[in-house]
Amino acid sequence: METVSSLAQLRQQVKQWRKQGLTIGFVPTMGNLHAGHLSLIDKAKQHADKVIASIFVNPLQFNDQIDLNAYPRTIEADIAQLTQTACDIVFVPDVATIYPEGMTKQSKITVPDIGDRLCGAHRPGHFDGVATVVTKLFNMALPDVAVFGEKDYQQLLLIKKLVHDLNMPIEIIGAETHREQNGLAMSSRNQYLSAIEQTTAAEIVQTLLEIKQRLEQGQGDFTAICEQAKQAIEQKGFEVDYIEICREADLMPAKSEDKALRILIAAQLGPARLIDNMACYLA
Ligand code: PAF
Repeated sequence: METVSSLAQLRQQVKQWRKQGLTIGFVPTMGNLHAGHLSLIDKAKQHADKVIASIFVNPLQFNDQIDLNAYPRTIEADIAQLTQTACDIVFVPDVATIYPEGMTKQSKITVPDIGDRLCGAHRPGHFDGVATVVTKLFNMALPDVAVFGEKDYQQLLLIKKLVHDLNMPIEIIGAETHREQNGLAMSSRNQYLSAIEQTTAAEIVQTLLEIKQRLEQGQGDFTAICEQAKQAIEQKGFEVDYIEICREADLMPAKSEDKALRILIAAQLGPARLIDNMACYLA
């Protein structure tokens, strides 16, 4: 595996592969890699001849400077882990490579509707930052397919819409969420939690499972179900940003006739903002 930090170097390798008729799979990350990320690399390799991963902590998608500064940066350990995978190139640009004119002068991408709700409403500017950096990284890596984790389900749908709306010839593939033994979705932010908080954090997935069960039992008052779940989990020490039952296809609030649903939750536990989601298909 090669580590590349300059855009010129990346472009040269991509050009060579394209000339050889090889397809490219891409996995953008912000580093601090865990088993969930590594599974995205495997998935990319199933769909393409060559795999590029990127590691870039994107300042444009952080609406909180303290959060950005605290974000774990473990580049050497990340590269060591990637060497054990099917990754061919890891692209590790610095901020000046991605934003040479600075972030305020950068043209931005806004994905309407889906970008405004849920995490978009709670983290102003976040999804513009994601859409902008992903567009730039796509234009740098020129992939045929790109893989994103379902843990960030709203991000996955947002990228699908972005690619569709801007006619990018890239297939976006979602990959299943990796979980700890207690069910907690793997996330770089889990390491902010104490051992006790990590146990408590599993309440998030329990809450999703309980809501799913209620829906499958035919309970149809979505607002009441979410409000009760919110009260229950807040008693366990969480501060809830949202718990919502949405249409899986576009994350608009679900109506009683909808059958393909996603239950989504975002909540603060101590120092960490945790998000998770679960599919629910009604007969
Ligand atoms: O999911 C992430 O880690 C980031 O949002 C992404 C897609 C790498 C863009 O910075």
